[in-house]
Amino acid sequence: MTDTFTPPPYPQARTCPYDPPPGYRALPRDEPIVRVTLFDGRSAWLVPHYDDARTLLADPRLSSDRRHDGFPLLSRRFEALRRRPPSLIALDPPDHGARRRPLIADFTVRRVTGMRAEIEEIVAEFLDRMLAAGPPADLVEDFALPVPSMVICRLLGVPYADHAFFQDASHRMLRAGDDPDVALRARDELAAYLRALIEDPARRAGLLGRLAGDAADTDGLVSSAVLLLVAGHETTASMIALSVVALLDHPDQMAALRADPDLMPTAVEELLRFLSIADIAGIRVAREDIEIGGRTIRAGDGVVISNALVNRDGDVFDDPDVLDVHRSARHHLAFGYGVHQCLGQNLARMELQIALSALIRRVPTLRLAVPPDELAQRGPTTIQGVNALPITWEA
Ligand code: HEM
Repeated sequence: MTDTFTPPPYPQARTCPYDPPPGYRALPRDEPIVRVTLFDGRSAWLVPHYDDARTLLADPRLSSDRRHDGFPLLSRRFEALRRRPPSLIALDPPDHGARRRPLIADFTVRRVTGMRAEIEEIVAEFLDRMLAAGPPADLVEDFALPVPSMVICRLLGVPYADHAFFQDASHRMLRAGDDPDVALRARDELAAYLRALIEDPARRAGLLGRLAGDAADTDGLVSSAVLLLVAGHETTASMIALSVVALLDHPDQMAALRADPDLMPTAVEELLRFLSIADIAGIRVAREDIEIGGRTIRAGDGVVISNALVNRDGDVFDDPDVLDVHRSARHHLAFGYGVHQCLGQNLARMELQIALSALIRRVPTLRLAVPPDELAQRGPTTIQGVNALPITWEA
């Protein structure tokens, strides 16, 4: 790297809903770590290469603890979350394992496969309603958001009747913009709501009800409940909506999927790679000096592993900027890697396969109701997506 290199800002906004921000293409590619400037003027290391990303995400010398002084804050929202005890995603071993272990059984492939019929029913129900009321429709409000919301409600034991409240609070928490107090208030509202459910034996159901019975640590369970409820619907909803945007923009890929529905599991992995809706595979701070590719990350340095870059690494994925639903992309890092690898990944995969298959099969004339460049982008946030997706079809 030359002395004249000015660390670019991170994160940056996408200009296309599914492609990495154009500014990332200008980052040096011959370095294992690249200095970037965060919103608060501090700097952190960005990891552009897939192999280095996996190595670092598996390295116990990197910590997820947001309370550490050097932890890289990606927006002012992160300042707020620092003011509360860390949730599962922000704990290091051994505390992390103790918090994650009781949840694992509910998210195995076997358990999730047991939910298939129920998820198919939920998908069919929302599609029926959308098709009866339209065209047109807002795919986010009518399908992409309600499907994963109802699924995570059933799994956790949260009444779906409260969806307007928790969707709105999650939205405020994740997209609080410049005001950390907005994020904090939203998080605290969700925590109070879930605590009331957990503490009332008459309302206990699902995973939360089961764990509430023998929870020695109610605060820990409330914290995991907030994370599961928010992550459980926001991410999958974004994936459904952006998958539709990308497939409509690549008619040959949409046609391939229509011609061969068995391609769907492979296509979902490719969409996870290509869209990288969780722009970040991990945010960490170094507890000790770490050598990587001949460079040193110093103790106390912040490290950001960007899915938008590593999932488009040409050394690992041929023609990485091409959407190819036939490609074997399951080794993408869209769900992260290492001890924090996404707990909900089996559920997310199944929901995406069922939701996209049904939508493509039942709405063969699906198209956008507005020009693609009119879709509102979310800005440089951590979960990419569109807040609304106007669609239409031939009735
Ligand atoms: C962790 C992405 C869906 C629950 C993560 C991480 C990523 C991710 C990248 C790792 C963060 C890190 O290492 O710091 C995604 C994507 C999803 C998705 C792209 C959808 C397509 C879900 C769903 C749930 C969920 C449906 C819940 C039902 C979690 C939890 C963690 C996590 C609890 C923290 C795990 C831990 O720290 O041990 N997710 N996720 N996610 N995800 Fe997901």
